[in-house]
Amino acid sequence: MPTTVVTGSASGIGAAVRRQLLAAGHRVIGIDRAEADIVADLSSANGRQAAVSAAIEACGGVLDGLVCCAGVGVTAPSSGLIVAVNYFGMSALVDGLADSLQQGQQAAVLLVGSVAGAQPGVEQIPLVDTLLAGDEARAAAEADAMAQPAAAYAASKFAIAAYARRKAVEWGPRGIRINVVAPGAVETPLHKASLDDPRYGQAVKNFVAPVGRAGQPDEIAQVVAFLQSPAASFVHGAVMFVDGGMDAMVRPKRF
Ligand code: NAI
Repeated sequence: MPTTVVTGSASGIGAAVRRQLLAAGHRVIGIDRAEADIVADLSSANGRQAAVSAAIEACGGVLDGLVCCAGVGVTAPSSGLIVAVNYFGMSALVDGLADSLQQGQQAAVLLVGSVAGAQPGVEQIPLVDTLLAGDEARAAAEADAMAQPAAAYAASKFAIAAYARRKAVEWGPRGIRINVVAPGAVETPLHKASLDDPRYGQAVKNFVAPVGRAGQPDEIAQVVAFLQSPAASFVHGAVMFVDGGMDAMVRPKRF
């Protein structure tokens, strides 16, 4: 029975991933701010360290999978919080659990990015390089100074995908696979909060995928479960859009 850590397991996409992995026979160790096997705040270095230590203890230092879903959207209280959870809350878990994953069977890591991370020009945002350099204090200051939560969100999601692709090259010889799923709009509390937000609501409503609807958490979780399974044994370093065609609509000539 594979053992998989899932962050953000209490809600939305993470909860669907947890359910589907349990149904597929995994032992799941959920991490979230509440209602989880490990209750931890992934926005702070101390919280992440506590989560990593508790997860290593729970799996006995042998881990087969890690799925990082925990994230906050553009309605988060600050842009500093967006980068703290969406970038450092994922990268610190990957780094902290790497040795346990190396002990696992056909270990695989999956990070939930976003179609927002593929928006044209995102790689030019200076915050991206600060994130990839791992300088959290400077990244938080830069994100807050930008005063554009949507840009900070996009930068956090582009940077975490770039982080995963770096790791894919580094980790090939270690036998740990790592991939990114980039969802489009998915009906979860995070998405509802942006729909209800006076700053972003109308734009979110107008940005409809070619298939004409938003996705359901289970439609993302199905792809995550596949990528975490031995059926995806040669998929490594991929950024897979699961977005009803949004990325194809925005960037028809980039793929
Ligand atoms: P959600 O709000 O339903 O679930 C997010 C989970 O992360 C919650 O359980 C929350 O408690 C947890 N979380 C947030 N901050 C945390 C912290 N500091 N410490 C520990 N746990 C924390 O949202 P959803 O939509 O399921 O989001 C999951 C991932 O999918 C996020 O990374 C989000 O950016 C991404 N995503 C969501 C899209 C959507 O339209 N819903 C679109 C693209 C990406």
